[in-house]
Amino acid sequence: SASVPLQYTTNRYVGSAVAAAYLASETDYRAVLTREFDNVTPENEMKWGTIEAVRGQYDWSGADAIVQYAQTHHKTVRGHTLVWHSQLPDWVGALPADELRRVLRDHVTTEVKRYKGKIRAWDVVNEIFNEDGTWRDTVFHQKLGEGFVADVFRWAHAADPHAKLYINDYNIEGINPKSDAVYNLVKTLRRQGVPISGVGIQGHLSIQYGFPGQYRENLARFAKIGVETAVTEADVRIPTPPDAAKLATQASYFGQLWDGCHAVRKCVEFTTWGFTDRHSWVPDVFPGEGAACLFDENLRPKPAYFALNP
Ligand code: XIL
Repeated sequence: SASVPLQYTTNRYVGSAVAAAYLASETDYRAVLTREFDNVTPENEMKWGTIEAVRGQYDWSGADAIVQYAQTHHKTVRGHTLVWHSQLPDWVGALPADELRRVLRDHVTTEVKRYKGKIRAWDVVNEIFNEDGTWRDTVFHQKLGEGFVADVFRWAHAADPHAKLYINDYNIEGINPKSDAVYNLVKTLRRQGVPISGVGIQGHLSIQYGFPGQYRENLARFAKIGVETAVTEADVRIPTPPDAAKLATQASYFGQLWDGCHAVRKCVEFTTWGFTDRHSWVPDVFPGEGAACLFDENLRPKPAYFALNP
């Protein structure tokens, strides 16, 4: 079984996405989280659609609970996420440009200030590019233009000058048109003096599609332009049902993600998107796939867990 908890095996932050509801209701879930990890990322609790579904009516309960848990147990928090086209309230999408800009500034400032000093790193913008490297067609891009990105980083920095500020996306593990777009944008923003500290590489993989090419080279090129990287949402989906061979492939993918991060000094964090197959977004979103986490439904460590060895 697991002898040395993950958090003590490495000098990287090791985290998991966490749901406030399970943290409150499941003692065994909470115990494994507390034992194994030293960073937590709220899975949904800090998204705009959770905290302000109705304009002016805030619900901070889930986010507050997770931040309180982190403070009590000396975990860092990755704030997720300030600006995203998904889980965005309809009322925001309906605003005219000038009002959207004011509301966006207010949203970023209010949320970042509320947790000032308690968030190590924020996913400031999430998923702003398409696979081919063009800008995703969102209300922010449509109404405010590309400049919304520089704006939100500046507003977040003003609200909490010590928090690390990240751009986050999926399918940017390897070198490809999408990660090229992130790379070019980050370079431009840094040149313009925009306070961006890092690139979050989500790390949602499937054993069906092969391990992404040039992962280490990708991490290294970001380091070279002076920004941190973090694996922010790692999971490795398996076509169900899992068997020993599939679990071994999954372990190898997790191991490669982990090893690559440890090979690049500026890769500072390895966070998984949930830690137990009991609670994972994968079966809901990818029909026919599952078992994507490090621990099974009974919280027993899987082969993938043992593949994480620096
Ligand atoms: C997912 C959550 O895990 C689900 O509970 C929710 O229904 C949808 O969002 N990329 C992200 C995360 O940045 O916020 C997403 O989280 C998973 C993909």
